[in-house]
Amino acid sequence: MCGIVGYLGNGDAYPILIKGLKRLEYRGYDSAGVAILENGDLSLFKCKGKVVDLENIVDEDSKTGGIGIGHTRWATHGVPNDVNAHPHLSGDGKLALIHNGIIENYASIKEELKSRGHIFHSETDTEVLVHFIEDVRSKLNVSLFEAVRIALSEVHGAYAIVVLDRENPNQLVAAKKSSPLVIGVGKNDDYYIASDASPIIEYTKNVVYLDDEEVALMDRKEGLKIVTIQNQAKTPYIQALELKLEAIEKGGYDSFMLKEIHEQPRSIRDSFRGRINIQNGFVKMSGIDDYRDKWLNAKRIIIVACGTSWHAGLVAEYLFEDFARIPVEVEYASEFRYRNPVIFPDDIVIAISQSGETADTLAAIELAKQKGAFIFGVCNVVGSTISRSTHSGAYTHAGPEIGVASTKAFTAQVTVLYQLALGVAQVRGTIEQKDVIKLMAELNAVPDQVEVALKSNDHVKEIAAIYKDSRNALYLGRGYSFPVALEGALKLKEISYIHAEGYPAAEMKHGPIALIDEEMPVFVIATQGQSYEKVVSNIQEVKARKGKIIAVVTAGDKTVSELADHTIEIPKTDDTLVPIISVIPFQLLAYHVAVMRGCNVDQPRNLAKSVTVE
Ligand code: G6P
Repeated sequence: MCGIVGYLGNGDAYPILIKGLKRLEYRGYDSAGVAILENGDLSLFKCKGKVVDLENIVDEDSKTGGIGIGHTRWATHGVPNDVNAHPHLSGDGKLALIHNGIIENYASIKEELKSRGHIFHSETDTEVLVHFIEDVRSKLNVSLFEAVRIALSEVHGAYAIVVLDRENPNQLVAAKKSSPLVIGVGKNDDYYIASDASPIIEYTKNVVYLDDEEVALMDRKEGLKIVTIQNQAKTPYIQALELKLEAIEKGGYDSFMLKEIHEQPRSIRDSFRGRINIQNGFVKMSGIDDYRDKWLNAKRIIIVACGTSWHAGLVAEYLFEDFARIPVEVEYASEFRYRNPVIFPDDIVIAISQSGETADTLAAIELAKQKGAFIFGVCNVVGSTISRSTHSGAYTHAGPEIGVASTKAFTAQVTVLYQLALGVAQVRGTIEQKDVIKLMAELNAVPDQVEVALKSNDHVKEIAAIYKDSRNALYLGRGYSFPVALEGALKLKEISYIHAEGYPAAEMKHGPIALIDEEMPVFVIATQGQSYEKVVSNIQEVKARKGKIIAVVTAGDKTVSELADHTIEIPKTDDTLVPIISVIPFQLLAYHVAVMRGCNVDQPRNLAKSVTVE
């Protein structure tokens, strides 16, 4: 959601900005723009559409200049069009600003500025902010750095901004609150600024993550200076980036999503490597070891998350209840934060987030923190805001996930939560050691089993070809497979725009069964295990109404194969681990259907990878 790139240095800004914006495309956006400064001339180009559309409108003469800012916008205030696209200019045309986030009190600031003669061209809160900074600067006669700080101290909401001054080719000013911003410090005092490290990685490994309410000045002479909004000086903390360039490139696949689906044997293994000892059955996670008393005395776990991460949370609910016998509530972060939730100091809140930047999840954490709960984060992006705002946590080690529809992050999240539930169960003495050893051995086999599940690709593609023109689809599962039904349906609707719903299989007869006819594909997880016979009965109910059954079954299954229109086999594993394997065919199916329908699988319409607005 909104991508920011800035550059101040000895090279030309334009190619760095364009390449950086392309690296941020995965976040989701609907318009793009750049502002470049050379010899006092500020060139501004912006348009609705993709970064390639932007490239087409930039004239050759404007492609030089060692200072510039670039932006991809995901519309919040005002429709996606050329005027609302960033950068926005101040009234005097001297300042150019890009912004990610929402200025909540923009309407009152706008009214005030209008009454003093400011004229606005766009519907955005961003244009109000740049006029406000201009106003503060001229009224108080202060530097741009100081004006940004003062203006932001009056602003409510979320922001990551970069500002450029036409009259000062030696400086960029950046600031952030609740939206991510990272500064790369390159050779010869070149500075790179971006929403995440992906646009920076090929130029430098030295980065500074700005904290909330910090304002940074990058100056060719003075170097990097950081102050808080309250005007306290901070020493920039430069850290080394661990990200590798290959990890954010497609590596021969047609799309990031396909690459990420196929990376899962590795990403799942990376998510448990070094954390479990299969021989003696021990879980080694500092988030458990360092807080044993918290886990021992917890009366309840509340899981907060959004989207696919919420589905991983649902799997975790079953795991914690089964293994550790702790009551669990799984909450949409957006609902939780706006209720008046009852939170006790002996509650543990687990926040799950791939990006570590989701605004609602972050706000839910802050609320639970205020009420005294212990917060444990499960994040994929190292150094992300959520990972830094929790008391403890465990990274998922899935590597960068670029495709907007989450795949490898989900299986990595479930893998980490699995170990956490086992480890906590050991601390609380609710599981027998022989069972831990058995389950760890099963977990250790999962990456190879996922490899086998991926071999169903061609068969799944044939099934996709049959159902690609469906208008609706139903996904059913019970127990551990219910969250997978939800996740399968989400994958299909996200990237192929087919309406799909996930349901607990038994709940079908309370409503969705009315939809079933010969047109309706019903995807069912019918693996052998606890609710197998019950699911077989549900399949019969669908067949009795002429629905089409596509069943994910355990390898060698005969019963369901005789009933279903199509079966997809996956290797046998323990019930508790089925979600990690059964989700694979659904990811592949959504992918193939989307490609066959001509959809952009990596950047589906209207969606964003990192949802930094509430
Ligand atoms: C967006 C993404 C989803 C993701 C959700 C939660 O909607 O498109 O793929 O599951 O946000 O994101 P998070 O980064 O917190 O897991």
